[in-house]
Amino acid sequence: MLRPTPNDKEIEVKSVDIVVSKADEAGDIEYANPIFYKLSGYTKKELTFAPHSILRHPDMPKVVFKFLWDELKKGNEVHAFVKNMTKEGSFYWVFAYVRPALNPDGSLRNYVSTRKRMSVSARAVIEPLYRELLELEKSEGVGTSQMRLDKYLDGKSFNNVMIAISEN
Ligand SMILES: Cc1cc2nc3c(=O)[nH]c(=O)nc-3n(C[C@H](O)[C@H](O)[C@H](O)COP(=O)(O)O)c2cc1C
Repeated sequence: MLRPTPNDKEIEVKSVDIVVSKADEAGDIEYANPIFYKLSGYTKKELTFAPHSILRHPDMPKVVFKFLWDELKKGNEVHAFVKNMTKEGSFYWVFAYVRPALNPDGSLRNYVSTRKRMSVSARAVIEPLYRELLELEKSEGVGTSQMRLDKYLDGKSFNNVMIAISEN
C-alpha cells in the first residue's frame, strides 16, 4: 500500500472516543474498533493484519516507539502520546495506553492499545518536545535523542511523566 503524503489537516478525536486495537507480537493489527477505522480512514479489510506502523506519522520520534517496544517485550505497559497519520495524510493526536494481555497460562495473548483524546495543554508540551527529539534524530541519531529524552525525564519514569502531562 502506498504511503500517504502528510498534510496539515487535523482529524478531531472527540472526548467520548475510545480508540482500541490489538496487535500480535510483530505489531500487526488483529482487531480494531469502529472508531479506529473511522479516524484512520482505512477499511477493516485494509487494516486487518496490516502493521500498526501504517499509521506512523513522520513527525513521530523513533525513540518513543523504541521505548514502547522495549517495555512491551519486558512485559510492561506504556503510556505515550502518539501523532497518527490517516489514509489521506491527515493527522490526529492520541494519548495511548498499551499493554501486553496474557493467556491464563501467563503466555502472551496480544498487545492492546486504548487511546483517547489528547488535551490542548498536553499538546503544548509534547509537540515541541517531539519536534526537538525528531530534529536530533535527523542530525545526530537516536542516541542523542534518547539522551535528550532522559534529560527531560530527569530521573522520573517515562510513564509517570506522560501521565502527569496528560492530567495537565
Ligand atoms: C498494540 C499496539 C498499538 C500500536 N499503535 C500504534 C499507532 O497507533 N500508531 C503508530 O504509529 N504506531 C503504533 N504502534 C507501534 C508500531 O508497531 C510501530 O512500532 C511504529 O508505528 C513505528 O514504526 P516503525 O517501527 O516501523 O518505525 C503500536 C504498537 C502496538 C503493539
